[in-house]
Amino acid sequence: MRRLLLLGLVCVMTAPLVYARAIPNPAQRHAPGNEELQKPISEAGYGVGVNYQLQCAGCHLGDGMGSPANDTPRLQGFVGNFLKVPGGREFLVRVPGMSQSALNNAQVADLLNWLMREDGMAGKSTPAHYQPYSAEEVSALRQKAMLNLPGTRAELIKEMRAQGIAIEDGMSY
Ligand code: HEC
Repeated sequence: MRRLLLLGLVCVMTAPLVYARAIPNPAQRHAPGNEELQKPISEAGYGVGVNYQLQCAGCHLGDGMGSPANDTPRLQGFVGNFLKVPGGREFLVRVPGMSQSALNNAQVADLLNWLMREDGMAGKSTPAHYQPYSAEEVSALRQKAMLNLPGTRAELIKEMRAQGIAIEDGMSY
């Protein structure tokens, strides 16, 4: 009986080793047609709309409507208002979704300029004399960490209110 028990124990302990194999399996080949290593998005050369879908839409949704349930503000018809208040221009680059995205500086600048187009998500909220972002500006701004994000955002929203701007960012205050 005891021998049987011991045998059982040995089987239980060795079974996983029998099935275990190195992961990734060193002998495994790439699937045909998929031999090249995947390019990072910063080098992939996708268009700006694709970059948005890949890096931003998971939270802000495809049409930029955001998701109050997930505390994600609406960009659609609103995001341009940040450019009307002091500090807002910097804020748009420094929010983590932007500054810590996998996009390079030029791609972040292109994305912001795309959002701010009149036919873009910001739509009519973009100020009349919009100055496009450059890769250099993004590079300088994204390196500075924002320490108090909710506080900074709340100040910007307060400043917008003071200017009489309707706060239609989809968030509940
Ligand atoms: C993980 C979810 C998430 C991802 C991914 C994300 N964001 Fe955001 N974004 C947020 C949240 C939440 C805020 C509100 C400020 C904060 O808490 O970061 C925000 C704020 C912003 C703002 C400032 C406007 C405002 O109302 O605060 C802009 C502009 C923005 N995001 C654009 C983008 C873009 C463009 C991308 C893709 C490169 C992106 N975000 C990726 C969640 C995300």
